[in-house]
Order: sequence, then C-alpha cells, then structure tokens
Amino acid sequence: MNERMSGTAEEIARYVVAEAVWAPSVHNTQPWRFVARGQQISVYADADRGLPVADPDGREMMISCGAAVFNVRLALRSLGYVPHTLVLPDPGQPALVAQVSWSERVPVAEFERRLSSQMHRRRTHRGAFDPDPLPHDMLAALRTSAARDGAVLRIVADDGRRATLAAAVQTAEQQLRLDSRYVRELARWTPVPGSLRGDGVPATSYPARTERTDPYFPGRDFARGHGWGLPPLGAAQAHRAAGVVALLTTAADRPADWVNTGQALQRILLTASTSGVAVALHSQPTELPVLREFIRTRLSGGAYPHLVLRIGMVAQAALSVRRHPDEVLFPSGDDRAIRRP
Ligand SMILES: Cc1cc2nc3c(=O)[nH]c(=O)nc-3n(C[C@H](O)[C@H](O)[C@H](O)COP(=O)(O)O)c2cc1C
Repeated sequence: MNERMSGTAEEIARYVVAEAVWAPSVHNTQPWRFVARGQQISVYADADRGLPVADPDGREMMISCGAAVFNVRLALRSLGYVPHTLVLPDPGQPALVAQVSWSERVPVAEFERRLSSQMHRRRTHRGAFDPDPLPHDMLAALRTSAARDGAVLRIVADDGRRATLAAAVQTAEQQLRLDSRYVRELARWTPVPGSLRGDGVPATSYPARTERTDPYFPGRDFARGHGWGLPPLGAAQAHRAAGVVALLTTAADRPADWVNTGQALQRILLTASTSGVAVALHSQPTELPVLREFIRTRLSGGAYPHLVLRIGMVAQAALSVRRHPDEVLFPSGDDRAIRRP
C-alpha cells in the first residue's frame, strides 16, 4: 500500500501490522498482539512471551511493545493517515499497551517517507564498528528523536565513563552466564541454525566470533558454546571500534515511561538507519538491579537507564526473522488476542 491508495480499514490494519512486527524486541520475543476494530488498532503485551528471569517486571517487554507502537504510527503516516495514540489507556487492562486510531489524511513528509522505508531494512548490529565517523549532526538528530517521545539519549563521551559503562556490561554478562535459570530462558529464544521458527534470535543475526573493542562491550552469549553464528565478513581488521556509546534513559520508571522508551528507541534506530548508521543494543546491565542502580546514580544523573546503545558505521550482514502478521493480528472480539491460549 502507499499514500495514493485508499484501502478498507481491514486492509489498512493488515498493512500496518505487517510493518509493526519488524520492531525490535528483547531476544526477538515479539511480545505483542494486535486487535483491529474499525479505524483503530489496539496493541497488547503478550505476557506468555515475557522473560520472567531476565525481565520480571516486564519493562523490556513494554519497551519492545512501545517500539511496535511507533511502527504502527509510522506505517499509518506512510499512508498519509494521522495517528491518534493513547498509551496505556485503561488502568484496568495493564496489558493494553496503546490504542492507535486514524481518520483524516495529510500529505506524507519526506522525513516520514525516509523513516518508514527503514522499518524492514533496519537490523540490530552485534560486534564492532568501522572507525569511520558518524555523519555530521547524526548525534543531535538522535538526541532529538529520543526527546520527541519523552526519553533522553545521553552520549557517554568521556573515556573514563565509557570504560565504567563497558565494565558494567562485562560484569552483567559474566553474572548472567553463570545463572542457570537465565541461560535456560535464553536457550528458549535461540533457535538452532536452520530452524524455521519466526521468532527468537537466529544464528544469522550474530557473529560466530567475538570482536574485541577497547573498551569491550560483550554481546549476549546467544550461541551458548555451540559455535553458531555468522562467519567474519573478511580478513580480521585492525582498528575496529566500539562506536559512540550512549544511554537511553527516562526521568521516571513507570510502565508508560517504558512504552515511551520503546517508541523513542525505534525512532532513534530508524533515524540512524536512514543514514546507513547501525546500532548495537546492550540491556544486560539493566537486567541486574544493582548494576542498573549503579548506572543510574553514577552515569545517568539519576535518570533511569533502559539500554546501552553503541552507534557506528558498518556493513551489516545480519538477517532476522518475524512471525507472520496473521499470527498476531486478531479481529475485535477474538479472545485469543488478550487471553492466554
Ligand atoms: C528492550 C530490548 C533489549 C534488547 N537487548 C539486546 C541485547 O542485550 N543484546 C542484543 O544483542 N540485542 C538486544 N536487543 C535487540 C533484539 O535482540 C533484536 O531487536 C531482535 O533480535 C530482532 O532483531 P532485529 O532488531 O535485527 O530486527 C534488544 C531489543 C530490545 C527492544
């Protein structure tokens, strides 16, 4: 579909959800369900896809759903519709993340066209970056992107603070690898190579060999000793960089802040992607309360940290997967959308 076409509300909802599912989500759990009713889409969190060990409060689940809400809004804009979004509209239904409705149309702006073209193309980067500098004004654009949805992107430029944040990621990753409950949970979301699953982190999306950077931000151990992952692109290169390091934070730490963090995250990722800039995400230290509190008090001025971002230039080869939109889109009145199966 495009802005020159006019479809039925059902066709629009199908198109929008097919775009929304390409949002990032923790371990690619895709913890969402969509219910279409007339010119409105409701986004629900799917607690069956939550991570009780790594994410007991559902914060990362709500961030993931927030990223999908942003895609819903952007997909509607790409058709020229003006989305009206209510975040957590019903205190009696905490799983109802957002309701997005549409009616009038206004022309699509060029930046909206460019952002929406990245929804399918954007990929999470894992590993090091090329040493090339970011395009001029990129960081200012990303900071503005975060602020549009009520979050703050704090660039950690100082060498000492970068090293401290890297140490927090290392400590978290070490602790998580030693926690058998965490490892079992991760195993549920790391399918074997060649799997036909439409969720989880496939071996086509992470490097088989760790690329060390200085300072070093270790990735998650998705392969868990099996040797899975993408082979290196070429001969090992010297001078691979950690990238520009940043923290995505909010002033408060309520579910609405988590949803807005997800919206901000997706706007940041898509804005970066329009300029060929890739982003690596680390949520390991924010999954451990002591380390999250350490980052909050020492590195983010008291604001609540949600994700460590590394931003840089790199040729990406990662491939990801998604469930078919039919598995997550339900007509209004279908109980499967909001009840456990
Ligand atoms: C809240 C949240 C936390 C994430 N944490 C990590 C992380 O710690 N390490 C990582 O490699 N990717 C992380 N990701 C990225 C997801 O693994 C990724 O979005 C998912 O596998 C889908 O792949 P794609 O982004 O390439 O489409 C996170 C994503 C979200 C939304």
